[in-house]
Amino acid sequence: MDLVATVSQSDLLEAALTEVLACPDCQARLVLEAAGKSLRCGSCGSTTPLVEGIPVFASSGPGPEGLQAEEMAFRNQAASEQLRNDTADLLSVAGKHHSVPLMGRYAHHFRSHFSAGDWLLDIGTGYSWHWKNAEPGPRVIGIDLSLGNLLLAQRLLADQPRCVLLICADASRLPLANGSLAGAWSVQAFQLFPEPIFQQVQRELDRVLRKDFMMELHHLHPALLYRFLCRLRGRTLHRRGRHGPFETNRLLLAEWLQRWASFREGRLEASSGYSELFFHPELGVRPRPYPSGLERFLVQHAPGFSSLFARQGYLRLKNRSCRNRSNALEAISR
Ligand SMILES: C[S@@+](CC[C@H](N)C(=O)[O-])C[C@H]1O[C@@H](n2cnc3c(N)ncnc32)[C@H](O)[C@@H]1O
Ligand SMILES: [Zn+2]
Repeated sequence: MDLVATVSQSDLLEAALTEVLACPDCQARLVLEAAGKSLRCGSCGSTTPLVEGIPVFASSGPGPEGLQAEEMAFRNQAASEQLRNDTADLLSVAGKHHSVPLMGRYAHHFRSHFSAGDWLLDIGTGYSWHWKNAEPGPRVIGIDLSLGNLLLAQRLLADQPRCVLLICADASRLPLANGSLAGAWSVQAFQLFPEPIFQQVQRELDRVLRKDFMMELHHLHPALLYRFLCRLRGRTLHRRGRHGPFETNRLLLAEWLQRWASFREGRLEASSGYSELFFHPELGVRPRPYPSGLERFLVQHAPGFSSLFARQGYLRLKNRSCRNRSNALEAISR
């Protein structure tokens, strides 16, 4: 297939059906049914409806699904309000919660590591705004639990060549073939996973990622100064566990690294850092233009100082080329 000509959700779906999609139950190939309204597993016969061209896979069984049911309802409700209001500028809506220019650059840089034939996964893609105006190249599968958010993503990405295939699915039950992905990207989704989901997502990533892979995960970070400033404003920054309809865990980078220490038996190269140093929506701080140059300098040359106020931390994980496994584990838990 001509990658440059890949422009729409249906083009991407067609390519994904032959290259990466698989039944989440039995991992057999999926086919588009004649009427074009659903996908069907060639082996177990299970069907998956398409809503505005987006495959909607059922969540995991009664256990994990129940754990995020409230979150899913909350997000779908919020999305349906945006859909009803016909919000024109969805990028501004995303900009209330994320530094769009900064995170757009991180996403662009991450994607630049891969080649045109590769497939990447964006876990908890939300409005999928990271990939707006992306150049042709590696294709991204944007999965999210909330169909409402994906319908907004569809709107945000409309009328332009697309690199993202939107799929409504639970990250703990991926409709993807074994070893089919070159990389995974995620912003502020892992912090939401209740423990059984987190563990299942890790198992699923182990299954679907190729041997040579790269992952970049950004999470909310419990910076000391930020917590202090919130206190001064009379607010307590929630750190761990259930908060309203979601689980939200703000872990330190060392804690996130520890959570990945045994992934792929510890044969990983890991690096970490801080992002969104100057973006604190909870305090009403959203500088425009964003001081990206200053942030880059501080993150590189003064990580300890950056950690005092960074809103996010990130991990980059990839397969380890070196043979010494114990050194790898040491590096990751440092
Ligand atoms: C804080 S939002 C971030 C969205 C997007 N990554 C961004 O940066 O704007 C987290 C997203 O993760 C999704 N999510 C939460 N749990 C999920 C799961 N188990 N599987 C797939 N998506 C999930 C939510 O529906 C939500 O859209
Ligand atoms: Zn099947």
